[in-house]
Amino acid sequence: IYMWTHTSTHCVCVCVCVCVCVCVLPRATNVSLSSATVVGRHVRSSYKHLQGDVRRRKLFSYQKFFLRIGKDGNVNGTKREDDPYSILEIKSVDVGVVAIRGLSSNHYLAIKKSGDLYGAREFGPDCRLIERIEENRYNTYASAEWRTKKNKCMFVGLNPRGKPLKGKKTRRKSRATHFLPMVVQPR
Ligand SMILES: *[C@@H]1O[C@H](CO)[C@@H](O)[C@H](O)[C@H]1NC(C)=O
Ligand SMILES: *[C@@H]1O[C@H](CO)[C@@H](O)[C@H](O)[C@H]1NC(C)=O
Repeated sequence: IYMWTHTSTHCVCVCVCVCVCVCVLPRATNVSLSSATVVGRHVRSSYKHLQGDVRRRKLFSYQKFFLRIGKDGNVNGTKREDDPYSILEIKSVDVGVVAIRGLSSNHYLAIKKSGDLYGAREFGPDCRLIERIEENRYNTYASAEWRTKKNKCMFVGLNPRGKPLKGKKTRRKSRATHFLPMVVQPR
């Protein structure tokens, strides 16, 4: 507070200057965006809120199949929009790593060491998938556990007929590995 006073024969002038600084921190943004904690090569700083958060989604492939996990643990694609086996629960289990469970089959989307795609009854290392948003805004899901002999990632992929692809034949840039997580509307 700075105070200035001036007195003359008839008047008294008082000037008071008060400077108040208010700092408003921006509120944490609500990143309810489709998902991943990893965008391109950049890891989002605020990933904690995603841990333990379960998202109910369908994974819609670039080639227009819904990924489905059957009750016997088979994984493939379906064009049917009302297939209950395509409703999935995506949960973060680690930074950038998710578990994807079929709601009706109760099996987890998994990739074997050999690269085979399947539905696992129990959650295990095969079920840890690295979720990443690619440049075209589609997501890829790569095994967090297994890589090829040439140290390449193995991805969840469906071929243009909706059949599962061997992990060894998948590539990040391939459309067969690109999925859009779609929010499942409650009925
Ligand atoms: C984030 O957004 C979602 C949907 O827009 C909302 O349901 C949720 O309450 C929000 N969370 C916070 C912490 O604001
Ligand atoms: C996916 O598997 C189910 C169950 O085995 C089968 O009925 C369906 O035809 C398969 N879809 C494709 C595209 O192969």
